[in-house]
Formats: sequence, C-alpha cells, structure tokens
Amino acid sequence: IKEETTLITIFGGTGDLANRKLYPAIYRLYAKGFLKENFAVIGTARRQLTNELFRQQVASSITSIADKSQIQEFVSHFYYRSHDVTNQESYKVLLDLSNELDSKYSLKGNRIFFLAMAPTFFNEIAVRLKSEGLVDTEGYQRLMIEKPFGHNLESAQELNDALGLAFNENQIYRIDHYLGKEMVQNVSAIRFANPMIEALWNNRHISNIQVTLAEELGVEERGGYYDNSGALRDMFQNHILQVVSLVLMDYPLSLDKSDIRAEKVRLLRSFDVPEVDEVNNFFVPGQYDANPEDATKYKAYRSEDNVDPKSTTETFVAGKLTSHSDRWNGVPIYIRTGKRLETKKTSIVIEFKNDRPNLFDDSNEQISNTLVIEIAPNESISLNINVKVPGQGLVTQPTVLQTSADSVDPNAPEAYEKVIHDCLRGDATYFSHWDEVALSWQLVDRIYEGWATHPTSLPNYASGSTGPEAANELLAKDGFKWYPLS
Ligand code: BG6
Repeated sequence: IKEETTLITIFGGTGDLANRKLYPAIYRLYAKGFLKENFAVIGTARRQLTNELFRQQVASSITSIADKSQIQEFVSHFYYRSHDVTNQESYKVLLDLSNELDSKYSLKGNRIFFLAMAPTFFNEIAVRLKSEGLVDTEGYQRLMIEKPFGHNLESAQELNDALGLAFNENQIYRIDHYLGKEMVQNVSAIRFANPMIEALWNNRHISNIQVTLAEELGVEERGGYYDNSGALRDMFQNHILQVVSLVLMDYPLSLDKSDIRAEKVRLLRSFDVPEVDEVNNFFVPGQYDANPEDATKYKAYRSEDNVDPKSTTETFVAGKLTSHSDRWNGVPIYIRTGKRLETKKTSIVIEFKNDRPNLFDDSNEQISNTLVIEIAPNESISLNINVKVPGQGLVTQPTVLQTSADSVDPNAPEAYEKVIHDCLRGDATYFSHWDEVALSWQLVDRIYEGWATHPTSLPNYASGSTGPEAANELLAKDGFKWYPLS
C-alpha cells in the first residue's frame, strides 16, 4: 500500500455529491492506508461554515461506514472556507490556506481540484485557479471534473478551452463513474486475458450486442437538472458510450492509458452518424407516463417537481449503433437506458451467431449462446450454452455457467473510491479523454437534431414497464429481441 500525499480542494463541498460519495470514498482510502498523515481536504461552497461544523458534516457522512475510533483523526484533516466563485478575494483566501496546509502536512505542493458543483461555474473557476496562482506549485496539479461536460459539442468545446488555460489534457480527469465500476473494468480483463473469448469477439461470430442501463428510479429531486438534460445527455453521451467503447475497442498495444484511449477513439470514429432524416430509424426517444394500473404509485414525468408540464425531454433512449470497422461491420450494437423502467439492470449481452445446421429435432430446447456481463444490481458473468439432458438419448437443454453473483449496493461509493485513487496515483486510464467527449457530442447533437426535425409523441411508456414499443420494433426489424430485463 503506497501512501499518497495531496491536498484535495472540493468546490461544492457542502453538496450532495460530496456528502454521499466523495467523503465516504476519501474515508475508505484513509481506512485502507492510501491516505495517512500527509493529506488535507478543503471544502468550499457559498455557505458560511466553521471548520468545526464542516468536520461534523463530514463525520456524519461517514458514520455508517467508519470505524468510530478513527473519525476524529480523519476529520481533523478537513478545512472549510466559504467561497464566491466570481470573487477574486475568495481565491486569495484559498491560496493562503492551501499554502499553510501544504507546509503543515508536508504535501509537496501536490494539488487536486475537484469540481463537484453546478457546471455554470466550471470555466470561471479554472481561469481563476490559474490567474490567482493556485496551480503554481512544485508538485502536481490535477483537475477532477464531474459531468455534465457541456450541453452540446459547442459548449463542451468552450469549457474545454477554458480548462485548457489552467490545465493541460493530461492534468484533467473527466469523471465517468461507470468507468470506476468493478464489472466495467472487468470487461478488459474478460477480453484481453482470455484468448478464447477474444478470438470470437468479431462480426464472424457475434450476431448482436446489447448494452442496457435501466433504472427503476424516476428523476427524484433532480427534475430541474434533468429537464434540461435528458437521457441522451445524462446517460448515453458518457456512460453508455464509454461502456460500449470498452466492449468493442480493438486489442490495444498495451494497457497503458494512451494505448487504451487511442483504441477507444478509433472505435468511436468508426460509428456511423445517421443523416438527420434517418435518426428515428436508429434512435428511439421515450418519456415515462404514470402507470395506468397504479397511477397513485408513480407520477408521469411531466408531473414531477421542477419539470415543465409540457416537457419533451426524453427519459428513455434505445438506439442501434453501427460501426464500419473491419471487426464490427454488420453487427448491430443496441443500447437502451431509461428511468422508471421495470427494474434496475445494468448489463452487457453478447449474442453469438447460430448458423450451423441443426442436428437436433424440435423437441430440443436450444438457445443462441450468449455471454452476459451483469454490472448491477448483481455482479456476474454468465455464459448461456446448450448441454445434454441427463439420461438416455441425446436431447439438449439450455444451461448457464455463471460466476458467483454478488449483490452490490448501487449507491456504494466504491466507484468514486477507485476514481479518486486513480487520480491520486496519476492514472487517467479510466477517465474520458477530450477526443472521446468531442466525438460523443457529435453523435448526440445529430440525434437531437433528428428528433427535433421529426418529433415523437411523448409520453410513450408507462412507469414500471420495459419502455416504449418502438424500442422493441427497433430490434424486431433486424430479427432480434431484447434480452429480458428481469
Ligand atoms: C448518473 C445520472 O450519472 O448516473 C443519474 O446522472 C443516474 O441520472 C446515475 O441515476 C446512475 O448511476 P448508477 O451508478 O446508480 O447506475
């Protein structure tokens, strides 16, 4: 275990993300010994708070996971300064405190800035960190930034240019918490540590791929944010395309971040971008309605707090991606994500071709072979194959070879723990590179353009269902079906 030395400054230090994910993640790194004596955390936000009250807040965010005897010592490394992001004086205060903590804890000038607040201010903060000298240190300076990274390609580009004034590309850690998930990282292991699997990983053997990020929850308290975002921006532009990239990228030269990123970018560039008038043939929007059988249980999206009653924001998207790479040409890659679906399910399904002459008669129950990587709510890998029914004769039935399925708490901070630890170690492999972000916005912008030109009537699916009928038709026209959600 290598102890890391750093000062982490969190913008948005009293916010939901900090309390629910970041403090527990930092605590876990501390409990495991990755952080010991030589670290400090500064929380900043608008609110006035003393260090003491801030430490109480941090303590209460970790009570359920912490060893009681460690809490006081841990929170003593936390400091608070109220901050107005547009006020120069605020940055001077931060600079003084940073320098003081640097010598008090021997932090070697290592600094991580974590933007965990409304994106409106990202540009301003980056520029001021530079102009007020906060990034002028002997050690490393790194920026961790939460999504949304822009609202479209143009605003993402502006944001990236502003960040570029203070940080270069290899100092910017664009977080996609899906890349911190255990089973998402496992995709590379399953592929590249198993030649048998990698040998089949192409259009000669795979008939279609399905990536599902389904949620049972609705928009909860985030109506205001979500109504300006939608499923494409909230889940597709980042999480889905990142997962898809890891599943489909070519064999990298090494597991080094630049080799992995290069392959992901090459893959993203190989995706066909549909013409505006064709978008609806490839991407289906959806919006949840109340459930007709139990309208009291779930509201329609349009009745949620802070949502426009006439909103046309999509809470669901199903899509078909096609690639013109040698490896994937001809293989449809279906994706879907949505809120208020039947169940929470995050999975990757690889369906293999079944084009051998059938030696068995109709009484044999047979399935196409599938490899299923389940990311949530359970973590497992299953291979669906056909085997002989025990006894006389040669009759087959489907069976599943599965790794043990450990149930995981979807809200567990493990993903953030990995993400922060990677940034401490300076390993940006599981973060998004600007080139990936730019390519994904290009596709998303086109989809929105297509949907705006040929609008779909919304809402079009009931809460608790599997999504709009058009999502099933998308696969049916190719002769496929979605792998069941539950
Ligand atoms: C976030 C989205 O990035 O991911 C949320 O903004 C979504 O809308 C969440 O609920 C899902 O993450 P997880 O890890 O619970 O699948």
